[in-house]
Amino acid sequence: MTGSSMKLVFVVARARNGIIGRDGALPWRLPSELKRFKSTTWGRPMIMGRKTFQSIGRPLPGRDTIVVTRDAGFAAQGVDVARAIDEAVRMGELRARARGVDEIMVVGGAEIYAALADRADRIVLTEVNLAPQGDAVFATPDPAVWRRVSTETVEPAPGDEAAYAVHVYERLTPNPPPH
Ligand SMILES: NC(=O)c1ccc[n+]([C@@H]2O[C@H](COP(=O)([O-])OP(=O)(O)OC[C@H]3O[C@@H](n4cnc5c(N)ncnc54)[C@H](OP(=O)(O)O)[C@@H]3O)[C@@H](O)[C@H]2O)c1
Repeated sequence: MTGSSMKLVFVVARARNGIIGRDGALPWRLPSELKRFKSTTWGRPMIMGRKTFQSIGRPLPGRDTIVVTRDAGFAAQGVDVARAIDEAVRMGELRARARGVDEIMVVGGAEIYAALADRADRIVLTEVNLAPQGDAVFATPDPAVWRRVSTETVEPAPGDEAAYAVHVYERLTPNPPPH
């Protein structure tokens, strides 16, 4: 949770077995899901870990990219660099305000989701109907903490490797007001 009505929104795609990544990349090919990712994040700031940024390879258009790294020498064109999670959230708030939106999108990877898990307000979770090998995971949202508010099932579009469902979860007990 962040200041005022600002929301931290996780956007994540996970397989049935919880895997979200393998060898620094996505372990599936789902072009229609990438299109959804684009529209879900469009016009908003996105916080991502340095490894996820490097796997994408460039700032994505129409959004602000905030890269979290402990590497003091890290620099990349067209992105904001945060040296700590709190700094990334503060940058996200500033960027969101400047754009007139009230959501900061947290787009991974596993380390960044884990670091912000207690502060997330909403999770947009794509559940991919695959069970691949991998090295990055995202846990099933704990029903004691998260309430599923919607589900949309999606059949594979041309080029998609699998069907998937998109679930939206809201935190049962809203996070405390801003510090
Ligand atoms: N399926 C999905 O929805 C999805 C979404 C995103 C990513 N992924 C996948 O997930 C994998 C990458 O995830 P990952 O967990 O390995 O890496 P990551 O979270 O993308 O990045 C980890 C890096 O972030 C920096 N970092 C993490 N915590 C920090 C903190 N508290 N303060 C400052 N910097 C911090 C560190 O960078 P430095 O080492 O530079 O210090 C760390 O090495 C890839 O396979 C990717 O394709 C999947």
